[in-house]
Amino acid sequence: MPIILPPGFETERLVLREAVAADAAAIFAEYASDPEVTRFLSFPTHRSVADAEAFLATCEAARKAGRSNTYVLTRRSDGAVLGVIDLRIETPFRLGFGYVLGRRHWGQGLMPEALAASVRWGAGQAEIWRMWAFCDVANVASARTMEKAGLRFEGVLRRWIVHPNLGPEPRDCRAYAWVREP
Ligand SMILES: CC(C)(COP(=O)(O)OP(=O)(O)OC[C@H]1O[C@@H](n2cnc3c(N)ncnc32)[C@H](O)[C@@H]1OP(=O)(O)O)[C@@H](O)C(=O)NCCC(=O)NCCS
Repeated sequence: MPIILPPGFETERLVLREAVAADAAAIFAEYASDPEVTRFLSFPTHRSVADAEAFLATCEAARKAGRSNTYVLTRRSDGAVLGVIDLRIETPFRLGFGYVLGRRHWGQGLMPEALAASVRWGAGQAEIWRMWAFCDVANVASARTMEKAGLRFEGVLRRWIVHPNLGPEPRDCRAYAWVREP
């Protein structure tokens, strides 16, 4: 059976739904234009809503192709868009995560809550054997997020990826994973 990603998730405080083109303005304003938020991310800080629109078009194409699904984290009480989490089908047995939250929502455990729900879902899919994510070695909050969501530290990937807002050189990253035990 191929991995089929769900249309959404619900947690105690959040509703995760598929990102749509109409989310561009919120994504731009909430996190993608904030250099403090994008410091450790793999894309340059957005300069206009058009950058967010281009991002969402890429997400939509990947979703249609069955490669990944990008969910917006919305607040259960009022539907406000707080951030995004990406589930990527990297191989028929492996899922990768990426995530980001608007700065004013940091420190409330919201992303660990969203990531833990994704990990719980994946653990219930027999075809998934590995779920993982990585973060820049300097991104302490992201490392902690993965630990709190039940991923385990595996090691450092030397010179793994360029984080363009930090400079042109590939950076060392910490890898965290959940694996299905035999
Ligand atoms: C990473 C991120 C998603 C975390 O989301 P969050 O909902 O704020 O996560 P939490 O509320 O659990 O807070 C982060 C944890 O890291 C800890 N932390 C944050 N900065 C820290 C620092 N400089 N040193 C030590 N611990 C730190 C917090 O204390 C907290 O852990 P605790 O609950 O054990 O005290 C959010 O900070 C973010 O969007 N950052 C920018 C984008 C990004 O880096 N995404 C990940 C790319 S790999």
